[in-house]
Amino acid sequence: MAKTYDYLFKLLLIGDSGVGKTCLLFRFSEDAFNTTFISTIGIDFKIRTVELDGKKSKTLFYRSLDTAGQERFRTITTAYYRGAMGIMLVYDITHEKSFDNIKNWIRNIEEHASSDVERMVLGNKCDMNDKRQVSKERGEKLAIDYGIKFLETSAKASINVEEAFITLARDIMTRLNRRMNDNNPSSAGGPVKITENRPKKSFFRCSLL
Ligand code: GTP
Ligand code: MG
Repeated sequence: MAKTYDYLFKLLLIGDSGVGKTCLLFRFSEDAFNTTFISTIGIDFKIRTVELDGKKSKTLFYRSLDTAGQERFRTITTAYYRGAMGIMLVYDITHEKSFDNIKNWIRNIEEHASSDVERMVLGNKCDMNDKRQVSKERGEKLAIDYGIKFLETSAKASINVEEAFITLARDIMTRLNRRMNDNNPSSAGGPVKITENRPKKSFFRCSLL
């Protein structure tokens, strides 16, 4: 039987090669981590469902595209920007260059993604404070300058990964609810409680496909 969900989120992860996009997605979808670096070839994807418990419980379905950071795949990966509802821009806090490049990635989004795409900046590998090259303040400042939300994350130590995906989904939901003139603001506020990881059958409220 076809599975149904309250919301479908099509997300995209971009950023330089080696910043940890695949690992963040692996942490979010499988709650696991791998130290072996296998650079993504072209494009990959992962899915996960999350139960949101508010006044009305909701099933969120994530389909996240994991792009290759390597320049040689740029033509392939940018082709996927258009379909994204939310984009995670990832840099590595231990690698200055990956932070400097965030500006270029933002420019890439402006060129290739839909104009109302929700964005979020993630400073990954925050478990490696001893090797840090980019202060948290610089990350925050960049995000403020562009009007984008920011979090430092660690796929390895499982810091803020769940929060990042939930926050991005919330921002997308808020925008959609506003657009659909939905009189139920509970979906956009209140505490988030994740109760289970499996899809459940539920009424398909709106088609976001
Ligand atoms: P491309 O696919 O080439 O674009 O790279 P990527 O951004 O997908 O990087 P990937 O997730 O493959 O991670 C690169 C390396 O960084 C791997 O060796 C990971 O183990 C390591 N790594 C990823 N996230 C973290 C983290 O949060 N902390 C630490 N310490 N290492 C991490
Ligand atoms: Mg990868």
